[in-house]
Amino acid sequence: MQKGLLDLHNVMRWLILLFAVLALVKGVTGMSGKKTFGKGDKKIALFLMICCDIQLLLGLVLYVLQGWWSVLIGGTAMASNYNRYFTVEHTIGMLIGIILIHIAYANTKKDIPDGSKFKRLFWYTFIALIIILATIPWPGREIARPLFPGMSA
Ligand code: HEM
Repeated sequence: MQKGLLDLHNVMRWLILLFAVLALVKGVTGMSGKKTFGKGDKKIALFLMICCDIQLLLGLVLYVLQGWWSVLIGGTAMASNYNRYFTVEHTIGMLIGIILIHIAYANTKKDIPDGSKFKRLFWYTFIALIIILATIPWPGREIARPLFPGMSA
């Protein structure tokens, strides 16, 4: 089961990146014109937020199952780069990214001009995406994980 959850967490990253890019495209095209902020625009922000929430849930379960919680409370989170990466850096970075994605969606529901909705959708998603990209254990990094389950990192 643990392997299945980790594989799902791996693959969900691509859905998040896809919806984040779509949200950025929606945001930037709306920002520059006089477009109305429609249901489709809001849906992209909603799907992105839902994927992030599923990822957060998977991450929390993995945090316990993979033993990182024990590492944290055992006081060895800073004992190595590897420990620090998964107990602190990956988790905190992703949490910040997910909070920003929530703010992006919350702004799509506010009673503000459509131009502002597009702008906020773009900027919150943009900053979240940078943080998320920087906190993914990409192949080739010091702490690396495969691009897809079953591949080598
Ligand atoms: C946008 C959010 C996130 C993305 C894109 C993401 C991405 C990833 C990726 C690509 C991996 C490697 C999977 C593999 O080994 O095949 C991973 C591992 C992991 N992530 Fe996340 N993650 C996110 C959020 C979180 C959060 C919020 C937590 C904790 C609460 C978390 C905890 C973990 C854990 C514990 C592992 C497994 C580490 C190990 O191998 O022991 N992730 N994550």
